[in-house]
Amino acid sequence: MILGLETSCDETAAALITSDGDILANIVSSQAELHARFGGVVPEVASRRHLELVMPVVQEALGEADASLGDVERVAVTQGPGLVGALLVGLSAAKALAWSRRLPLVPVDHLHGHVASLYLEPDAVEPPFLCLLASGGHTMLLDVRDRAGFAVLGETLDDAAGEAFDKVARFIGLGFPGGPAIDRLAKDGNPNAYDFPRPLLREDNYDFSLSGLKTAVIRWVRERVARGEEFDPADLAASFQEAIVDVQVAKTMRAAEDRKVGTVVLAGGVAANSRLRERMAEEGKARGIEVVAPSPALCTDNGAMIAAAGIRRLERGERTPLDAAPVPGLSLG
Ligand code: KG4
Ligand code: ZN
Repeated sequence: MILGLETSCDETAAALITSDGDILANIVSSQAELHARFGGVVPEVASRRHLELVMPVVQEALGEADASLGDVERVAVTQGPGLVGALLVGLSAAKALAWSRRLPLVPVDHLHGHVASLYLEPDAVEPPFLCLLASGGHTMLLDVRDRAGFAVLGETLDDAAGEAFDKVARFIGLGFPGGPAIDRLAKDGNPNAYDFPRPLLREDNYDFSLSGLKTAVIRWVRERVARGEEFDPADLAASFQEAIVDVQVAKTMRAAEDRKVGTVVLAGGVAANSRLRERMAEEGKARGIEVVAPSPALCTDNGAMIAAAGIRRLERGERTPLDAAPVPGLSLG
C-alpha cells in the first residue's frame, strides 16, 4: 500500500491506497476554522498546525485502514506548489517515514494530484481527457494524455476561481472558505438577478481572468450600500456564481470542441461547486461530450490524490533523494 501526504495549504491530509487506486483511508484535517478569523490562510499559523497534526493524521489513516507502518510500501508527498513552510512539514514527515523504513519516496506536483483524483476507484477515468482544474490557487485547462502528467492549454491571468469565490464571500461576510458558503447561499437565489461581467468569455484563447469580475461584484455591493439600497444576498451569490460558472463552462467546452476531445473532467476544490457540476454536465450532454467529476470530497485537497499521482511516478522508477526541498512556486508538470 502507498501512503500519500498533503500539507501544501490549510489541509493536513494522509491517505492509504492500494496500487490499483482503491482508497483504504483518506483522512483530511481542515484548518479552515483556525484561519477563519483572519479571513484567509495565514502561512505561519498553517505550518505550526501541520506540525501538530501530521503524525496524528497518519496514525488515524493507519487505524482506519487497519494497518501499521510496517504495511506501508511506498510514500508519496506533495512537493509543491504551495506555502513553503506548510510543504516543508509534510515533506519532512514523509522523508522521516521513508528513511526509517527504507521505503521509496516520491515527490508529487499538487496539480498532478488534483488530476489524479480522477484515477481513484471506483470511478477511475482513463486519459486522454481535457481537465478544468479550478482551485484556490489555480484555474487551468489541461490536456491530459496519460497518467504521468499533463500539458497546460490555458490558465488564469490573475485570480484563481476559488480565490475569487473566497474574496467575494469575505467581502459580504460569509466567512472562509467562501466557495462552499456561496454555493449554499446561491441555491436560494436567482442566477439572473444581477448582470455581472464575463471576462474573456469571447476571446479566442483558453485563458481566464477573474479579478475584474470579483472587483465588479465588490464595487456593485459598495455602491448599493452607499445609496442605501437593499439587495438579496442569495441573488447576489447566485448571480456572481453564475458569471464564474459561465466563463469556465464556455472556455472548457470550446477547448473540448476545438481539440475534438470526448471527455471533460473537473478537478480542484471549485469542482465541488454544485452549479459548475450541473452546468458542465448539461452543456457536455448537449454536445455529446462526457463530463466527469470526482466526488466533492476528492475535489478538495486530500492525501489519496497525492498517492494516486505518486503511483505512476514510482512505477517509472522515480525516487526522491532525502535532501529534496519544497518547490513553493511552480507546477512541477
Ligand atoms: O483544491 P483546494 O482544496 O485547495 C487548493 O489547492 O487551492 O481548493 C480550495 C478552494 C477554495 O478557494 C474554496 O473556496 C473552493 O476551493 N471551493 C469551492 C467549493 N468548495 C471548495 N468553490 C466553489 N464552490 C464550492 N462548493
Ligand atoms: Zn489543491
